[in-house]
Amino acid sequence: MSSQTLREARKYEETSEKMITKEERPDFHLTPRTGWMNDPNGFSWYQGRYHMFYQYYPYESKWGPMHWGHAVSRDLLCWEYLPAALAPDEFYDKDGCFSGSAIELPDGKQLLMYTGVMKKHSGYGGVQEVQAQCIAVGDGVDYEKYENNPVLDEKDIPKGSSTTDFRDPKIGKRKDGTYFCVVGNRPADGSGQILYFVSEDGFHWQFKSILASNRNRFGKMWECPDLFELDGRWVLLTSPQDMLPKGYEYHNGNGTLCLIGDFDEETGIFKEGCDQAVDYGIDFYAPQTLLTPDGRRVMIGWMQNWDSCGIRSCDEPWFGQMSLPRELSVRDNRLYQAPVRELEQMRRDKVEYRDVKVSGALQLEGIEGRQVDMELTIRPEDPENPYRKFSVRFAQDESCHTSLSFRPGESILKIDRKFSGSRRAIIHQRRSQVKTVDGELKLRIILDRFSAEVFVNDGQQVLSAAIYTKQEAKEIAFAADGAVRIDVVKYDLSFRPEK
Ligand code: FRU
Repeated sequence: MSSQTLREARKYEETSEKMITKEERPDFHLTPRTGWMNDPNGFSWYQGRYHMFYQYYPYESKWGPMHWGHAVSRDLLCWEYLPAALAPDEFYDKDGCFSGSAIELPDGKQLLMYTGVMKKHSGYGGVQEVQAQCIAVGDGVDYEKYENNPVLDEKDIPKGSSTTDFRDPKIGKRKDGTYFCVVGNRPADGSGQILYFVSEDGFHWQFKSILASNRNRFGKMWECPDLFELDGRWVLLTSPQDMLPKGYEYHNGNGTLCLIGDFDEETGIFKEGCDQAVDYGIDFYAPQTLLTPDGRRVMIGWMQNWDSCGIRSCDEPWFGQMSLPRELSVRDNRLYQAPVRELEQMRRDKVEYRDVKVSGALQLEGIEGRQVDMELTIRPEDPENPYRKFSVRFAQDESCHTSLSFRPGESILKIDRKFSGSRRAIIHQRRSQVKTVDGELKLRIILDRFSAEVFVNDGQQVLSAAIYTKQEAKEIAFAADGAVRIDVVKYDLSFRPEK
């Protein structure tokens, strides 16, 4: 039986969604049905479709008591909304159904595991937030909260660990078919740790180990962990809060950290190898991954930064969008990301230029648009006489543009959305150190009305940024200080019209 709170949310979203036209949203990036969206939740393949749940406050375009929104897709790009799945309607989650994940049970039902948040009055008029892990089981549309919730609480965590910061369970299967989950937590030193729990049936859980400890190296609290095996290695993703920059890594305050290492299921200990940022742009946080039926590890993140939420006014009917789904691989101790291959089915009207000289400013016929997949290869005209700077501007008209500029001298690629129509003193630029191979740099730029995602050198690095530039600004222009030669392959992106 659904609660009054959930019924109200479902009714509200059904009416409000009608106020938002198709053109006011991105085409193939998921946005909230109405109101506010943050983290991806319960990203899974279930009953022949991909399911994406999300942190959701339907009633306003700002963060509020968390519900779970819900959408499904067959190709990870064209999403269809389903009714909200969870609402904060029980004593243990009355202040929010925070992030979590999903898995299919042997009886064909889908299990959701999420964090229930409850504010408790502590002595002297203070309020303490308690976070505990909860379960709901359903059929892909309607979910029933488990009668013995919460299934993991303060009794189950190491002594001295925080019960206020204990959240975001990501569930998975162990090699022997039993279940595990990883959960973000804060030990007594105030930084972050990931706890590893195991279960025979998905309902009864035991603490097994502290999987990984931050020891105040990468920010503080570690949110939204995800652990998986990929290309013979193990990958631990987590989104630390309050990071300090390290060289050109971790400039986002709250960003996503990737640790590549090894993991022993028996001990439940993750052995760290190397670390890197997952995204080098401005907006990317709290990603989740799934394994597709054909064996690809695909990741989607929230394409937003907590510190720049003010980029859009709360009067807009929706806020927050997901990133492109990205296929992951590990090569040479690095996490690579590529736009999911399904995107290629959306490519239309190819325009191609080979070996064009750019020296000064240049616009090319047919190269424009706001829903675009564009591959660029940039090389010096004369390797003996390198250029100083190359830039490409997009979402451009006489007053707006967002740019990517590359200075080979420093090997720095910069994204700049200062002129994207933003009226706020938020972060607009990010610099990242990239590599060239024989002087050549490869960029794949994906635009979808309100965002830009840049895949550098076949996914060695990615830069993502939300841009709310007016849609009429759709020019793309190139410029070079010095002389470069470029190859450009550009497609418009759109869904095939339904027959
Ligand atoms: C990360 C996060 C999670 C939490 C959720 C609340 O963005 O803070 O840790 O579960 O958002 O909406």
